[in-house]
Amino acid sequence: MAFLDRHKILEKNATLLLIASLVVVSIGGIVEIAPLFYLENTIEKVKGMRPYTPLELKGRDIYIREGCYTCHSQQIRPLRDEIERYGHYSLAAESMYDHPFQWGSKRTGPDLARVGGRYSDEWHVVHLENPQSVVPESIMPKYAFLSQTELDYSDIEALLKTHRLVGVPYSDAMIANAEADLLAQLDPYADGIEGLTARYENISIRNFDATPRITEMDALVAYLQMLGTLVDFSTFVPDAER
Ligand code: HEC
Repeated sequence: MAFLDRHKILEKNATLLLIASLVVVSIGGIVEIAPLFYLENTIEKVKGMRPYTPLELKGRDIYIREGCYTCHSQQIRPLRDEIERYGHYSLAAESMYDHPFQWGSKRTGPDLARVGGRYSDEWHVVHLENPQSVVPESIMPKYAFLSQTELDYSDIEALLKTHRLVGVPYSDAMIANAEADLLAQLDPYADGIEGLTARYENISIRNFDATPRITEMDALVAYLQMLGTLVDFSTFVPDAER
């Protein structure tokens, strides 16, 4: 009982109890936080991840501007039903160039982390313009104006620079060619294609909205078609299983 008797001293003295609690909590904190400073990287490196192309980045901005994240998540959890519906669970590395991340916290619509390549461009355009025309029971709003709105890409260099400032590895060449790369991604016959494909691996080059105009729809569909397609899961092995 001697030990419990001594504990009574702590219990009866509020100041002492407070100090002792702080000591205990700080030890817990140090044990949890300190190792993070010595780990080289808390995100497992994964082959295939690359910074978004200028066109995809503009599309991502439109996705955020329109609040698509209020109804759609971009995070497939490692649970059987999710994996069977959406595909491989999301890796931390797949969001490493997202500033801010688009994990979302609500799924009024389905998760979009791997929607890339699941539908044709045409389906996306028709669905975004009028979701009920392809999914009659859909409650998703119409975004037809995106097809009518010219894409304003005058800020594209600044946009890439800003992302570099927060850690996305855009090279000087990527920034200098941002506008040319944005235009080249929309036209497989453009002059700048070699530069674009040298700077960004595994990209889709085509006229996404099938109209001669460069619209916000082009950018948004380019972004959606890229989602979840960068990492090649046929060769992916988690670090823990290597
Ligand atoms: C009010 C909630 C809501 C908002 C806001 C919303 N969506 Fe949806 N979305 C849905 C619902 C519900 C569905 C499922 C029915 C359907 O396919 O239309 C859906 C389906 C989708 C699909 C098809 C996914 C699949 O796997 O079948 C895509 C792609 C999509 N939305 C993209 C977007 C984009 C891009 C935006 C922003 C411009 C957006 N959504 C905004 C509710 C929403």
